[in-house]
Amino acid sequence: MADKQQELSSRHLLGIKDINLNDIQLIFETADTFKEVINRPIKKVPSLRDITIANIFFENSTRTKLSFELAQKRLSADVVNFAASSSSVSKGETLIDTVNNILAMKVDMVVMRHPYAGAGVFLSKHIQVPIVNAGDGAHEHPTQALLDAYSMREKLGEIAGKKVVIVGDILHSRVALSNILCLQKLGAEVMVCGPTTLIPKFIHALGVKVETNLVKALNWCDVANMLRIQLERQDIKYFPSIREYVMMYGLNKTIIDSLKKEIIVMHPGPINRGVEITSDVADSQQSIILNQVENGVAIRMAVLYLLAGKK
Ligand code: CP
Repeated sequence: MADKQQELSSRHLLGIKDINLNDIQLIFETADTFKEVINRPIKKVPSLRDITIANIFFENSTRTKLSFELAQKRLSADVVNFAASSSSVSKGETLIDTVNNILAMKVDMVVMRHPYAGAGVFLSKHIQVPIVNAGDGAHEHPTQALLDAYSMREKLGEIAGKKVVIVGDILHSRVALSNILCLQKLGAEVMVCGPTTLIPKFIHALGVKVETNLVKALNWCDVANMLRIQLERQDIKYFPSIREYVMMYGLNKTIIDSLKKEIIVMHPGPINRGVEITSDVADSQQSIILNQVENGVAIRMAVLYLLAGKK
């Protein structure tokens, strides 16, 4: 029998595209251990005691930033935080200069969120330390996909063979692409659902099903992952009005109750209550939205630990 994989195949986590099924399974097994740790009275281990990590956020974040910071602190790493809005980026400093200045202060790892797709890949060609992509434009959000899949696995036991529909603004969503790639590696069937204007033309090349009718999509799936409309990335109007979007693609209790089966409801956050999902669904027994947030810390602990330990 082949030796069990003990370390990640990649020295960065830039996208789900760059990791394999064994990497995902290793991250999940490591996260299982850390989930047990963060539920203890003393939620801390010394695993990254000599490591300093910089969280470099060029875009707003609540969950991802706090989740990475908590993960780092639970692993006893030293943490420095950088927000572009309050930095010298506004004085014209380039990304590489900014990061090299941070690294000159003996930082061992970088977690970066950036509005431009490919920013992490670009940076990885210029700096020597491991980089974790915390979301790059409309491209990838790998730790979100990992925590989403981990949360599904926790709820369903197994992901292979399960049916997952991702609903909403697929065109502008880094969560959608990373989820599609991650779920397919784990053997799930994936469908996307939304207005045709918010579904990218290349989507068929990813091997996903496409459905524009929300009720049909929900009757097909075991899990529905509801996405926010990314108005901040939209330069033109993709649908007539929010009111019409809600009528066609908003998930509410009446729809849930009309389905032929019970499905799991997910959302990466931030939620726009009353738009893509109503409060009674978001806060229902079928929703695992807060489990996703809890699992995010364990998944990020696993990713940071495995990247720091890579030879
Ligand atoms: N899910 C997610 O990325 O949320 P934040 O933008 O708050 O980090």
